[in-house]
Amino acid sequence: MQRIKKGIPGFSMIVYTGGTFDIPHTGHMELFDYCRRYAGKHGKVVVALNTDEFVFRFKKVYPIMTYEERKKIISNIKSIDKVIVNIGNEDSKKTILKVKPDVVIIGMDWIERDYCKQMNFNANWLNKHKIAVIYVPRTTNNSTTKIKEKIRA
Ligand code: CTP
Repeated sequence: MQRIKKGIPGFSMIVYTGGTFDIPHTGHMELFDYCRRYAGKHGKVVVALNTDEFVFRFKKVYPIMTYEERKKIISNIKSIDKVIVNIGNEDSKKTILKVKPDVVIIGMDWIERDYCKQMNFNANWLNKHKIAVIYVPRTTNNSTTKIKEKIRA
């Protein structure tokens, strides 16, 4: 655990993470920092960003910030190497195969939800492509939803 907190010297991986990252906040930054530590100095952290249309279909509401606004902010975060569009929308396999990651990293909140179903892949597909899934601790209780609630109040 201590090693992963600091990063593993000489270790490099291609890390994929995805989401909407609307109103980017401290929880997102901590997720990105985890991704960087797993990727290592010479690895790659790729963020697949959901389109506005996909978010609307999924949540029945558009994100506060447009895709281009979210992309501009996320692209400027130092732990991130590349931001791409989640072209597959409901089926993330298409986007993941473009990245060919060693690992998909997501926040621990997903451990109690069906992440495989949400991403439209299963264990066979992950095995076939030799992709691991890592749930990282959610170290802050912040969320886009909470920020929106605060603003409304
Ligand atoms: N995430 C995290 N820690 C937080 C908030 C989010 O690690 N405090 C992670 C999620 O687990 C996910 C990624 O950030 O892997 C993108 O989540 P997203 O849904 O875009 O952010 P939320 O703040 O959770 O947005 P919402 O409240 O709309 O669900």
